[in-house]
Amino acid sequence: MSTTETTMEKIVSLCKRRGFVFQGSEIYGGLKGTWDLGPLGVALNNNIKREWWKMFVEDREDMYGLDAAILMNAKVWEASGHTGAGFCDPLVEDTKTGERYRADHLLKDAGIAADGLTIDDIDRLIAEHGVLSPKGNPLSKARQFNMMFETTIGATAGPAGLVYLRPETAQGIFVNFKNVVDTMSPKLPFGIAQIGKAFRNEIAPRDFLFRVREFEQMEIEYFVKEGEWEVRFEALRQDIWKWFDHLGLRREKVREYDVPENDLAHYSRRTIDFEYDYPGKGFDELAGFAYRTDHDLRSHQTASGVSLEYTEPDGTKFIPHVLEPSFGVGRALTAVLCEAYTEDEMNGEVRSYLKLPVHLAPYRACVSPLLKNKPQLVEKAREVFLVLKKEFGNIAWDDNGNIGKRYRRHDEIGTPACIVIDFDTLGEENPANQDTVTIRNRDTGAQERVAITELVNKLTIATV
Ligand code: GAP
Repeated sequence: MSTTETTMEKIVSLCKRRGFVFQGSEIYGGLKGTWDLGPLGVALNNNIKREWWKMFVEDREDMYGLDAAILMNAKVWEASGHTGAGFCDPLVEDTKTGERYRADHLLKDAGIAADGLTIDDIDRLIAEHGVLSPKGNPLSKARQFNMMFETTIGATAGPAGLVYLRPETAQGIFVNFKNVVDTMSPKLPFGIAQIGKAFRNEIAPRDFLFRVREFEQMEIEYFVKEGEWEVRFEALRQDIWKWFDHLGLRREKVREYDVPENDLAHYSRRTIDFEYDYPGKGFDELAGFAYRTDHDLRSHQTASGVSLEYTEPDGTKFIPHVLEPSFGVGRALTAVLCEAYTEDEMNGEVRSYLKLPVHLAPYRACVSPLLKNKPQLVEKAREVFLVLKKEFGNIAWDDNGNIGKRYRRHDEIGTPACIVIDFDTLGEENPANQDTVTIRNRDTGAQERVAITELVNKLTIATV
């Protein structure tokens, strides 16, 4: 294997070693399908969410924010169709070990097309092709498995207290449609955006953060007149591409997949999956973009008895149709890490580093004294550090190990600039350099001297 090949194993290992992502409940042996974000992972994750909110909500005039409760009245999920077959995955069991698998995944792994199959189709194909479990054992008959997590609300157990952990943030938006319209008087077309946790009892969580049981979504429900859905769909499609550009994903690493009619979700008339070319996995879903018609608002109107019609200024009333860009934060984070992971040769050694865009990097810069046992250097470095910290917030202080080790550490976590206070800064070696520092560029390793008074400006305008 060449040293410059990006593999998921290298990224997972970096994530653990450097404090981006840890296995959930690790000291108890873990909990399948859960991951915890470490100090750097939460910084990167928050940066992704902040940039998304800025691009899709704050920078636009047609978007409204929302943060709905995770627990909702169970009737929401009956009306939306999630309690029925529409939100089920086909499950098969290894007849010897009892382990459970997604039947469509096993078929795909065996090279058999598995989109849009009925349970009978699945049983027939498994029998015809002699598909076995990954352990080589016969499989049970397939059955539908609903992915919603159930829990009980209040002190009384039983059906009256049954609630679900939301499997998508979208329904929180639909049930608040009337509230937003009544309080904000938005004009069509307009969107409601939300970032929050979603939960799915995935039969087979896998591939690091790709398929997990607890994850975050960034979703928009964009309400339009039915006759305008196609033109609005096209405009939002372009906005989604701009978002991937902003994440630093090269265009050739992202592609669109028009989901075939027989594989559309129960609410969708058209869906495009945006797929990223994950190392070792190939193209797979990064985000979804669906035309949900008026399915959700109409279903909630019927089930709740509350009118969810929109009233035009001329008094015309109708239920708007909906376009839904839906992004998984974890999948964006994975794609960003895959894209940023780079290996090159520097000073005769292989180094790995994260070429993260400045607006996503956990730290904007790191400040260090050249030597930590020279009080004058430390004092000056602290002064510089505190000025930058006040200005940018995400500035690291690092005086561990020698300077080479600090550079390697910060390369590996994607810090774009390392600032070092040395004897020149104190005016001890070359008085002309007094009150200047070195800034080292993460990507090139090149260093330049910059006046301390210029640092804020320099870091503000630099894109790398
Ligand atoms: N409201 C529409 C909806 O939830 P979806 O295609 O089921 O549509 C949207 O999910 C996005 O959420 C996906 O494109 C993916 O990024 C993310 N996602 C879905 N299930 C996931 C899982 N089990 N683990 C991680 N991310 C997931």
